[in-house]
Amino acid sequence: MKIGIIGCGTIGREIATAIDKGTIEMELIGLCDIVPSQAESLKKDLKNFSPAVLEKEKLVEICDLVAESASKDVVPELLGLCIEKGCDILIMSMGGLLGQGDLIKQAQKKIAIYRPSGALAGLDAIKAANIANIKSVRLTTTKPPKGLEGAPYIKEHGVTLKDIKEKKTIFEGSASGAIKGFPKNVNVAALLSLAALGPEKTQVTIVVDPDATRNCHEVEIEGDFGRITTRTENFPSPNNPKTSYLASLSAIATLKTITSSLKIGT
Ligand SMILES: NC(=O)c1ccc[n+]([C@@H]2O[C@H](COP(=O)([O-])OP(=O)(O)OC[C@H]3O[C@@H](n4cnc5c(N)ncnc54)[C@H](O)[C@@H]3O)[C@@H](O)[C@H]2O)c1
Repeated sequence: MKIGIIGCGTIGREIATAIDKGTIEMELIGLCDIVPSQAESLKKDLKNFSPAVLEKEKLVEICDLVAESASKDVVPELLGLCIEKGCDILIMSMGGLLGQGDLIKQAQKKIAIYRPSGALAGLDAIKAANIANIKSVRLTTTKPPKGLEGAPYIKEHGVTLKDIKEKKTIFEGSASGAIKGFPKNVNVAALLSLAALGPEKTQVTIVVDPDATRNCHEVEIEGDFGRITTRTENFPSPNNPKTSYLASLSAIATLKTITSSLKIGT
């Protein structure tokens, strides 16, 4: 299977390295980044592949599958290109899929859209639970101040992260509000929404903890099946404190599953 990567930062680099090491049995034929030097520098670090550095239009044309690890803003256009060219897509910037119901319908029977579990645990059970009735979904995300830096909500509400000296809730509302206010920080909120009740009915609380060293996600779900509570304590990636290491690993695990005959989990 020929794969290309769009977005050669923290997650894109981890995916490329896993392909280079043979953890994922795919052929890495192309890289794309809005900052071409990012793609060139990643290419230089690979030992077993020499992917071409291309624009996304060309990449989608020559690949069987593209892995998006760039930005939610690129997702709608990229998904449209993939549908047109018959190229499967793995999407990490989950917020980019919200409100794209028409494109997702168009993709049906044409291409596969893979949405890894990212930094979240329990999505297998949530998918199963959603076959029956789910009554409520609540996500509480706790991050160190660095994990929320630069979020539009922080700027708009005049929150000074460095002045927060003890654990403090800074946002409570719907997943759609959380994604708007923290587009690079709460991909898990978008993913949970897409997996169950949608962005308006999924409740999100965001907490800043100056003593935290991990990005923590707690999920509570109630429905016909009973109740699920999960808690994931993620180490932030050393290269990008907004991104949990588990998110990269989940993309790699999804790509491994695509090429494997043994598929575990719902
Ligand atoms: N699903 C999850 O659980 C989860 C977890 C963490 C991060 N993410 C998301 O995955 C994406 C990548 O995260 P990261 O930590 O690797 O980010 P990063 O900032 O380390 O890397 C992103 C790379 O994409 C490039 N880029 C940005 N916009 C682009 C565009 N329009 N076209 C091509 N390249 C572009 C940047 O130049 C950069 O090299 C982000 O959108 C992030 O919010 C998802």
